[in-house]
Amino acid sequence: MKFKDKAVIVTGAGSGNGRSIALRFMEEGAKVVVADLNLNGANETISLAGEGSTAIAVKADVTNKAEVEAMVAAAVEAFGTLDILVNNAGIVAFTEFLELSEEEWDKVHNVNLKAPFLCSQAAAKAMISNETKGRIVNITSVEAHRIVSSSGHCQPHYNSSKGGLNLLTKAVALELAPYGITVNAVAPGVVETPFTAGGLKNPEVREWVLDRIPVGRIASPFDIANAVLFLASQESEYITGSTVFVDGGWTIH
Ligand SMILES: NC(=O)c1ccc[n+]([C@@H]2O[C@H](COP(=O)([O-])OP(=O)(O)OC[C@H]3O[C@@H](n4cnc5c(N)ncnc54)[C@H](O)[C@@H]3O)[C@@H](O)[C@H]2O)c1
Repeated sequence: MKFKDKAVIVTGAGSGNGRSIALRFMEEGAKVVVADLNLNGANETISLAGEGSTAIAVKADVTNKAEVEAMVAAAVEAFGTLDILVNNAGIVAFTEFLELSEEEWDKVHNVNLKAPFLCSQAAAKAMISNETKGRIVNITSVEAHRIVSSSGHCQPHYNSSKGGLNLLTKAVALELAPYGITVNAVAPGVVETPFTAGGLKNPEVREWVLDRIPVGRIASPFDIANAVLFLASQESEYITGSTVFVDGGWTIH
C-alpha cells in the first residue's frame, strides 16, 4: 500500500487512462477524487474499485476556474489535504490544418493546456498552505514532441496543446521546486482507450501503429497508470520537470 491515506485528484478519471490511474491509486491505498465532466463515468470508475477503496466522484469542467477551485476544495474537505494531482483530462479532434476552426482550436487548448494550468495552480496553493511536498503529474503525449500522422494529415491543435503542456510542466516544476513539490509528465504513445477506439478499429491504422512500436503491442491504460504512480511516489523525489515516455519504444526512432 504505497499510497496509504494520500489524497489524490485525477482529472478525466471517468474513462480510459484516467480511470486506470484512479483505480491503481485506490489499489495502493490512496483516497481519490475521481473528477470528470461526465459524472456517470466518474461513478462507474468508483464502482469498479476494490472493496475498502476510498473515493469520491466530483463533476468538474477543468476548463472552468470556479469548478477547478471547487474540485480542489472538495478534496481538502473530504480528505483533509491534497498530496497528488494528475492532470489527465484531454481531448483530441482529427481536423486538418486548413479546415481547423477557431472554436476547435480554442476547445482543444482549453482542455489540454489551460486546464492543467488552472488545476496545477489551485492544487499547488492547497499543497503549499498545508506544507505538503506534493506531486503533480501531467499527461502529455509523444505528440508533444513529434508529429504523428498515418494519413498525411496531422492534428496541429493537439500537437501545440500537448507541446505547450510539456513546457508548462518544466516552468511550473521550476517555480514549485522550492516548496518540495515536483511536476513531471508522462507521455503515452498509443493506448487502447475510447479516445483511440475509432481509429484503431481500422485494420490499416492498427497495423501502421504496431509497425512503429518496438515492443510489439499497443499500450494498456495500466501501463500509463504505473508510470504515473512512480512519478507520484516518494521514490521519485529527485525527479522534476521530466517526461517519462510510455510508448513501447516508439520514440527511439
Ligand atoms: N489514448 C491514447 O492513445 C493517448 C495517447 C497519448 C496521450 N493521451 C492522453 O491521455 C489522456 C486521457 O486520454 P484517454 O485516452 O483516456 O481519453 P478518454 O476520452 O477515454 O478520456 C478522457 C476523459 O476526460 C474527460 N474530459 C474531457 N474534457 C473534460 C473537461 N473539460 N473537464 C473534465 N473532464 C473532461 C472525458 O469526459 C473523459 O472521461 C488525455 O490527456 C490524452 O491526450 C492518450
